Amino acid sequence: MGSAITGWGEALPERIVTNDEFAARLDTSDEWIVARTGIHERRMGSTTSKLAVEAGSAALDRAGLVGADVDLVILATTTPDQAIPATSAAVHDALGCRGGAFDLNAACAGFVYALVTADALLRAGHRRALVIGSETLSRVTDQDDRSTAVLFGDGAAAIVVEAGATDDLILAYDLGVDGSATSLLYAEHGGHIHMEGREVFRRAVRTEITSIERVLADAGIGPDDVDLFVPHQANVRIIEAVNERLGLSMDKTAIVLDRTGNTSAASIPLALAEAADAGRLNDGDTVLLSGFGAGMTWASAVVRWGRRGLAR
Ligand code: ACO
Repeated sequence: MGSAITGWGEALPERIVTNDEFAARLDTSDEWIVARTGIHERRMGSTTSKLAVEAGSAALDRAGLVGADVDLVILATTTPDQAIPATSAAVHDALGCRGGAFDLNAACAGFVYALVTADALLRAGHRRALVIGSETLSRVTDQDDRSTAVLFGDGAAAIVVEAGATDDLILAYDLGVDGSATSLLYAEHGGHIHMEGREVFRRAVRTEITSIERVLADAGIGPDDVDLFVPHQANVRIIEAVNERLGLSMDKTAIVLDRTGNTSAASIPLALAEAADAGRLNDGDTVLLSGFGAGMTWASAVVRWGRRGLAR
């Protein structure tokens, strides 16, 4: 008994915010933002639940399923609609799902945490899980603070994971957190994101390298065996530094941050869904996922893409 990814989908707000829009009212420039981050534009608007429902619905369509076929919804988010209840309850209702639903907050590592959790619960008896990353970070970002405003965006993406007679979905994973470093990146209730950018950058590179080395070793594979690397989309310079050190090729790396900015828990599934839509993934491909964010959390996983003979 294993599990397989059988559907994927994404949702982005319509409003595009360009670097020039920030440059018109803040002491920044398109040149600075592109050179330091790789971000050209990001999307802003909607709500975390609406984006999650849209992405979840698209993933169900792609899998040829309806909400009632799903008995588990996990929503990775740091920007829930409300403090109480969990945003996943509204998503579960809107999509007509069965079984349970819960939110999971592990910041930019949240989607990989959610995928690992879903896989474990499918082994425990659930049949089909909808795993969603959805964020509206523009709501918790001070739009007048140039050091954070230009970095974050809104969006969502989802995958369907089904249990059945197939091989293991996850070949290796690594979840971690260093709670002594919470002060480097946080937002108070009702407040804005505060970030020590330079130190977060340093830790992101160092931690992702260690975590990826661990999962590649556990899976018994090397960088050349990775068909697609899907990193968290915070800053292209972080991704380039990690790739250079590990010998991972940028050609085999999924990038969406140039158009989305950092969408925290939504960033990895957005890059994954876009790669799948572009035909960059084939059944049985080896995919490496890795995220790092507030907490400071991190999560990496080596997964096998596609249905891989799963019948229903
Ligand atoms: N436009 C122009 N200048 C700026 C801007 C801006 N938008 N933002 C900062 N600057 C200035 C700074 O004030 C500083 O000026 P100073 O030298 O006079 O003090 C200068 O640019 C350099 O600042 P640094 O912070 O050293 O710039 P750096 O190259 O590190 O880039 C950045 C900053 C983009 C924030 C980078 O550090 C980064 O990407 N950090 C990691 C972010 C991340 O990975 N977050 C992940 C988790 S997110 C989550 O969990 C929700």
